[in-house]
Order: sequence, then C-alpha cells, then structure tokens
Amino acid sequence: MKKIRLGMIGGGKGAFIGVAHRIAAHMDDMYQLVGGVLDVDYKRGLAFAKEIELDTSRVYATVEDFVKKENALPENERIEAVSICTPNFLHYTMAKKLIQGGFHVICEKPMTTDSKQALELEGLVKKHKVIFCLTHNYTGYPMVREMRKLIEQGKIGKIQRVHGQYYQGWINPIIHDPKKRKQIWRLDPKVAGISCCMGDIGVHTFNLLEYITQMEVTSVLADLNTLYVDNPLDVDGTVLLRLGKGVKGVLAATQIATGEENSIQIKVYGSKGGFRWDQENPTYLYFLQEGKSAQVLKPGNPYNTKFSLASTRIVSGHPEAFFEAFGNLYRGAAKAIRGKKIDAGEFPTVHDGLRGITFIESVVKSNKTGNKWVTL
Ligand SMILES: NC(=O)c1ccc[n+]([C@@H]2O[C@H](COP(=O)([O-])OP(=O)(O)OC[C@H]3O[C@@H](n4cnc5c(N)ncnc54)[C@H](O)[C@@H]3O)[C@@H](O)[C@H]2O)c1
Repeated sequence: MKKIRLGMIGGGKGAFIGVAHRIAAHMDDMYQLVGGVLDVDYKRGLAFAKEIELDTSRVYATVEDFVKKENALPENERIEAVSICTPNFLHYTMAKKLIQGGFHVICEKPMTTDSKQALELEGLVKKHKVIFCLTHNYTGYPMVREMRKLIEQGKIGKIQRVHGQYYQGWINPIIHDPKKRKQIWRLDPKVAGISCCMGDIGVHTFNLLEYITQMEVTSVLADLNTLYVDNPLDVDGTVLLRLGKGVKGVLAATQIATGEENSIQIKVYGSKGGFRWDQENPTYLYFLQEGKSAQVLKPGNPYNTKFSLASTRIVSGHPEAFFEAFGNLYRGAAKAIRGKKIDAGEFPTVHDGLRGITFIESVVKSNKTGNKWVTL
C-alpha cells in the first residue's frame, strides 16, 4: 500500500497526545508525516519540525494557510490526511476547514464542543466523501475487540448489566490550589467546552460501552462534582445509564481519585456469563461463568476471534498496549483511505463523535436540572 502523506495540527514539542499519534501513524508503515501546523506558536512549531527532520516548507502558521498551500501542490505531493491533536475547542473549526479542503481527518476527542457542530461535521464528511477517524483509542485494544466480537456471537447471552469506570487522580494536587486550578486548560470552559472530566475521560468510557455492547445508551442520570464553587467544570461524576431492552448500568469517571493513574475498567454481564477488562492490565480478559472459575483470555492465540487476532502484531505473551491500540485505529483509517475492505469497528467514526458530545451535553444537562433523566 502506498504510504499516506500525513499532516498534523498540534502535537508540538512537549504536547501530550501528539507523540502517540506519530508513533501510531508510523507503526505499520502506512503513513509518512510530512508537515502541518505543529504548534500554536509558529516559531516553536518550526523548531520542532527541524528536530524531527520534517521539511519546514510544509510547516504552516495556520490551518487556513495549510489548506491553501497544500491544495496548490500537485496531487501526488499533497498531504492526504491530517491528525488534529489540539485542545477541544479547536477541533470543530479545524476539522471543518480540512474536510472542506478535501483532506481525510483523524481527530482527537471530544470531536466538538456541542452537538450542532457535530451534526454539521457528520454532514460534511458525507458530502465531501472523506474518511473521518475519531481517536477513541481504547477501542483498538485486541481484548476490547475480542469482547465486542464474543458478545456479538452470544458468548455471554443477553446483556443485562454494564459498568464502566475511568479513574484518574492527576487533578487532585491541582484542584485544591486556587491559582493552579486556573492554569489548566481542561478546567477552562473556553478551551475544554462544557465539561472537564466527562468530556475528557467519561466520553472514552461511554464510547467503550457502546462499542463493546453494540448498543446505544438511551438515557442518563448524572451527578457531577466540581469540588469548588469557583471551578466551573466537573472533575468527578457518576452516571446511571439505560441502554434499552431493559439493560441498565453505571458509568463513573473521576480525576480526583487520589493515586489512580488510568484505571479504566469495563464489566459487561449477560444471562450466560460476563466479561471484565482493565486497561492497566490490557492483555487479560476475564470470562466469568456461573459455578466455574474465571477464565483468562489473552491476545494473539488461535482461540481468539479473527478481529482480535488481526489487531495484534507479535506472538502471544509479548504485551501490546496503548500505542499498538492507537496504531490499530490508524491502520483501519489507512485501509479506508486507500479504499480497502475494513471490518466494522476498526476505527470510531464521525458518528461516534456525535454520540460522544450528545452524551456530554446530556450528563451536564441532567446534573444541572437536579439529577433528572435525560434522553440522548
Ligand atoms: N485519545 C486520548 O487518549 C487522548 C489523551 C490525551 C489528550 N487527548 C485529546 O487530545 C487533545 C490535545 O490534548 P493534549 O493533552 O495533547 O494537549 P496539549 O496541551 O498537551 O497539546 C496541545 C497542542 O496543540 C497545540 N495547539 C494549540 N493551539 C493550536 C493552534 N491554534 N494551532 C496549532 N496547534 C495548536 C499546542 O501548541 C500543543 O502542541 C485534546 O482534545 C484531548 O482531549 C486524547
């Protein structure tokens, strides 16, 4: 497959998630990073481009400039796909300009800061016939994919209960200091949008639950916590979920779980069995059955589903994790960009982005209106 010429917006020196995108993109030799708008500060972006040996003539100051100058290049030189790795409030305007410019987009979550923008992006993706991948990267883990497929095949029977948690503790040392809590973009509504914790990590958990069960959450009842009156955005929350067909559950996300790192735990229980998965130990999937000891399923084995097997790169027993899962999304998107056949669920789409922001809006609304049920 001919490598896809990739651009990157954000992800400059010291940025958090940009490096995961670069590693993921280059993992399977399907992309080559060519240029982009690497930093909010153009000079810093140029310096970083030199450091990672990019041609600085392909590094631009703004997305407008990027679209104009790249589109002026011959088609066989032009960047084809662009990763958006900037803070939340920029995703919508940047994605819109790129889609309208004819570029495929790989975008960070949450996709937009409101559902109107998300609906518009969904329409634009369709109109301009581009591929849009939203990096809910946890869907790339082989054992998450195994769970999805086994549930689809009826392994645990009819789903009756779901549980999703994402516990972090990194905001704890920040939130109690009035000066420090003003310096974090994730706590600034102008940059983060209407939610911190639910928009940052609750939405990953929501996406995982819908991905694994292939069911849609139909309504939510949320109780969020900001801890301080001068802090406008949630740092912690619990959400009751209804998924239709009598399926109920809980989603708990927090950034003040002191000492926690990235404790994502997913549990799905059906009439015949259950699954339990923990992101910090991602190669172990626990299969639970009545009256039997728990069975551990691991990736890269002949007993795995085809979808999960295709999501590993090395023989069983060599742990693959965060970067490889990220790489699986990039690989799926690359196949789609090159018009190759893809499996359902190889990468989250613009529709998952719309689902995500609808979830965020709904939990914020439920919390604001006295913890009432809100329909998605
Ligand atoms: N999928 C995941 O697991 C995951 C993890 C962390 C962050 N994220 C998401 O990634 C996004 C970025 O988060 P981060 O933690 O990397 O942020 P960050 O603050 O570490 O990095 C942001 C980068 O964007 C650049 N930037 C800002 N404004 C820009 C502009 N106008 N033009 C070009 N570049 C600009 C900054 O210079 C910086 O390089 C957020 O939307 C966040 O929700 C996703």
